[in-house]
Amino acid sequence: MERIETGITEFDRVVGGGIVPGSTILIGGDPGIGKSTLMLQVLSQLEQYQPLYISGEESLQQLRARATRLGIAERQIGLVTTTSVESILSLIEQQLSQIMVIDSIQTMATASLESAPGSVAQIRESASLLTRAAKAHNVALLLVGHITKEGVLAGPKVLEHIVDTVIQFEGERFYTYRLLRALKNRYGSTNELGIFEMTARGLREVPNPSELFLSAATEGESGSVITIAIEGSRPLALEVQSLVTASSYATPQRSSMGFDLRRLHMLIAVLEKRLGLALGRYDVFVNIAGGMRISDPGVDFAVATAIVSSFRDLPVPKHLAVFGEVGLTGEIRPVYLFEQRLKEAERLGMQRIYAPSLPSFLTPSTLQWIGVDRLVPAIVQIFGKNRQRTPHKTPK
Ligand code: TYD
Ligand code: MG
Repeated sequence: MERIETGITEFDRVVGGGIVPGSTILIGGDPGIGKSTLMLQVLSQLEQYQPLYISGEESLQQLRARATRLGIAERQIGLVTTTSVESILSLIEQQLSQIMVIDSIQTMATASLESAPGSVAQIRESASLLTRAAKAHNVALLLVGHITKEGVLAGPKVLEHIVDTVIQFEGERFYTYRLLRALKNRYGSTNELGIFEMTARGLREVPNPSELFLSAATEGESGSVITIAIEGSRPLALEVQSLVTASSYATPQRSSMGFDLRRLHMLIAVLEKRLGLALGRYDVFVNIAGGMRISDPGVDFAVATAIVSSFRDLPVPKHLAVFGEVGLTGEIRPVYLFEQRLKEAERLGMQRIYAPSLPSFLTPSTLQWIGVDRLVPAIVQIFGKNRQRTPHKTPK
């Protein structure tokens, strides 16, 4: 299939290898996350397609100021400010451009409807008029859509079935990385993830995301454990941190950032029952360093190990990583994309990996892989038998 490649690898991969001519892509995301920045950078790579940037949100001066900041002011990008669907339709019909950004769909309105701009009826009708015309004239459309406070793509949810592809731009406040993922793709997989960093001069691709989330500073500290998770279909090294402290409350606190709180409760119960860890009078905090939110069950084992490490105040050995899903009986279950995880660990200079058993022919060469399938012996192995001391006094 013909594709318009932007050369921004992280973007091209998420849309399925480039933009399909005549297709419509919806880019959703919170206000301020960087959608307009990404769109302008994408268009700046596509001069040969006579790109048009149509904004209903910003003035020409603002758009030019952004282009200057991004260092792309001299690129040939047509800038148009309008909120009229009819004006955009005439631009599409004239086929002045093979690719257009419409920022945002919420600001656009068609005169054929009485309802106000931003209403569901307007968004839906505007998008379907634009999409149909774009298809007829083989113009690729990139529609920007804001997510509302409720977290649903108010416009976009409504638009999902109208457009060919839905991608979402995400990030955490106070962190500079941005994740681009496909939620729907008529022309590709929805498993891909693109990672960017927002800098003072726009979005920068992050081809080696693991480096973004690992810090040398916490290596050798108790409560810090490295795991290899999967996001999209890519392996990603993450640092799981835990802090276990004597509680001053009747009900001890359990708090989790970036990891499912119910799974944390489950892991604490497993550690209490199977390992005899008396966590009943301790507060347990878990944090995925760097602000990443992760739903891969493969990080369970690392969370459990981090809790033990903090509770016993014993650091895990350096250059060690663990992964695996922990079950209620204390079993460690194999996780998918085992080999990719091992490769990533190897690439990052890990020397020892604890992970559930897999056929031995997969064992990599430079890495020492230790197959484990029960939590208790695994923890004993990681920390060593003679290192079972508990420095904490049990609180009264
Ligand atoms: P923007 O693309 O306007 O977000 P959206 O269109 O999703 O609402 O970018 C929003 C933020 O990004 C803004 O607060 C400023 C910041 N930013 C940078 O940090 N560096 C840059 O080069 C640019 C253009 C923006
Ligand atoms: Mg914007």
